[in-house]
Amino acid sequence: MTSASSVPFDRSIKIAPSILSADFANFGKECEAIEAQGCDWVHVDVMDGHFVPNITFGPATCAAIRPHIKGVMDVHLMISPVDAYVEAFAKAGADVITAHVEAGPHIHRTLQAIRGAGARAGVALNPGTPAEHIQHLLDDIDLVCVMTVNPGFGGQSFIHSQIDKVCTLRRMIGDRPVHIEIDGGVDPTTAPLVAAAGADVLVAGSAVFRGGSVATPEVYGQNISTIRKAAESAGASWA
Ligand code: DX5
Ligand code: ZN
Repeated sequence: MTSASSVPFDRSIKIAPSILSADFANFGKECEAIEAQGCDWVHVDVMDGHFVPNITFGPATCAAIRPHIKGVMDVHLMISPVDAYVEAFAKAGADVITAHVEAGPHIHRTLQAIRGAGARAGVALNPGTPAEHIQHLLDDIDLVCVMTVNPGFGGQSFIHSQIDKVCTLRRMIGDRPVHIEIDGGVDPTTAPLVAAAGADVLVAGSAVFRGGSVATPEVYGQNISTIRKAAESAGASWA
């Protein structure tokens, strides 16, 4: 298991497959397959049917898949309220826990609770939420997740208006050790756009799992490599 403090910070491109697009009956083997095929982080989408119109799973499932993940387990909480569950997801082995700024009135308290529980703290912004919303939180976070779809489902179309938000956030972050993560509609066409805008963690569900299975994991490897190469070919446009 990776502890939060052992996650090194760098701005290289990291591909984080979302297991929302994996075979739900086979999470352990799916996590092992994507790591063996070269992914960097494993992105785990937790949905409550209240903050978002879909339900996935909770801390018990995260704890069950943890032994099957050698690297970073990146837990994206699309739940409201959040605070009561932070400790449980940290105990389940999450390295990064991301809460939505829209999920409650006290995001600063939530971020403190996440760091206090020993995880890295992420804050997610829905497409309608401006970058400036987190201006006074930049020293309290390790990651900002820019939603490039409305949260709730995989397989939606990338919302291009968010690219400008990524550029703004990259300038706001400056030299702080804060990752910019993109979540939704990332594929070989959109990856270079967000990489150029300053993102370093690219979540991809459909674009990684499409066409493959635990029986044909090399397809995952090809998909990961294609997204990574596309992102790495982009020049910086945020400055
Ligand atoms: C959406 C989730 C995403 C989603 C991405 O609410 O947070 O992580 O699974 O899926 P794709 O890559 O298919 O858009
Ligand atoms: Zn997500």
